[in-house]
Amino acid sequence: MVIETDGLTKMYCQKVGCSEICLNVGEGQIFGFLGPNGAGKSTLVKILVGLLFPTAGSARILGKPLGDQGVRRKIGFLPENFRYQDWLTGVELLSFHGSLYGLRGAEKTRRIRQVLERVGLGDKGRQKVGSYSKGMQQRVGLACALLPDPELIFLDEPTSALDPLGRREVREIMLDLREKGKTIFLNSHLLSEVEMICDRVAIINKGNIVKEGPLGKLLAGAVEVEMVAGNITQKMVDELSALGSLLKVKGNTIRLSLRETGDIPVVAEIVVNNGGRLFSLNTRQNSLEDLFVDLVKEGGADKC
Ligand SMILES: Nc1ncnc2c1ncn2[C@@H]1O[C@H](COP(=O)(O)OP(=O)(O)O)[C@@H](O)[C@H]1O
Ligand SMILES: [Mg+2]
Repeated sequence: MVIETDGLTKMYCQKVGCSEICLNVGEGQIFGFLGPNGAGKSTLVKILVGLLFPTAGSARILGKPLGDQGVRRKIGFLPENFRYQDWLTGVELLSFHGSLYGLRGAEKTRRIRQVLERVGLGDKGRQKVGSYSKGMQQRVGLACALLPDPELIFLDEPTSALDPLGRREVREIMLDLREKGKTIFLNSHLLSEVEMICDRVAIINKGNIVKEGPLGKLLAGAVEVEMVAGNITQKMVDELSALGSLLKVKGNTIRLSLRETGDIPVVAEIVVNNGGRLFSLNTRQNSLEDLFVDLVKEGGADKC
């Protein structure tokens, strides 16, 4: 495992930043860490890169405990909404960050050229960062994260300031890094993006992990059912709600999101056993957005 966390908790005075986070991230994965604003995504990443001390719990990164100096050299980090020094050129900024990583001389120059090319700023390195557009600033941040040729890269909302083309380019960079065996921890609230590229996801809400697993498996179980039935009773609705979450009851129509595809026949049984008459029942596989909205609305948590 590249990242293993055990009960990581951060309290900001009385306020929960993140609570009892237990996660494992394997080598060569793109791991999507999803959650609404204020859920605790940045807090966890800041703990993992060593910018915050946890209030409780522990973690191992690349096999070593938090704070290991050698590991820090192998980690790239693109912070959220980071403001770079406006007065530096792209090359100067990267040179500064390269020095912090211990890069020197010709090796540093070569890496700077490589990463600028990689993020599509090959011909903009002599311009001041202050003159860059928001998207270019985000790319130069990504270039900083890639400077040490890291084994593990933390990206906190890397595409939030980018237009659709820029987003696609960053996605391609992430896929290319995975191909090279790198591990990416991606904080995002852009569900379609996560659905496109992540191998595994965890969803965090109000500081707690509410779901975690391989993307395919998380989506395979969840399914939405819409049915039209006569003689709908409150008892029937209550029993149906227990199979997942109720999305709508209006007239003769009931829409609900099931946790398991295997519960589809149970839906029909509940209707019939409660004296209802089933006129139609249609199913639709849930998207990541459906799953996310369900979990975040419920506010429930699977404790680890
Ligand atoms: N430095 C801080 N001091 C106090 N509270 C904070 C601080 N940073 C974050 N928080 C709070 O911790 C919670 C999680 O924040 P954050 O990790 O930034 O969430 P996310 O990145 O998912 O938007 C929020 O309620 C936020 O207000
Ligand atoms: Mg954040």
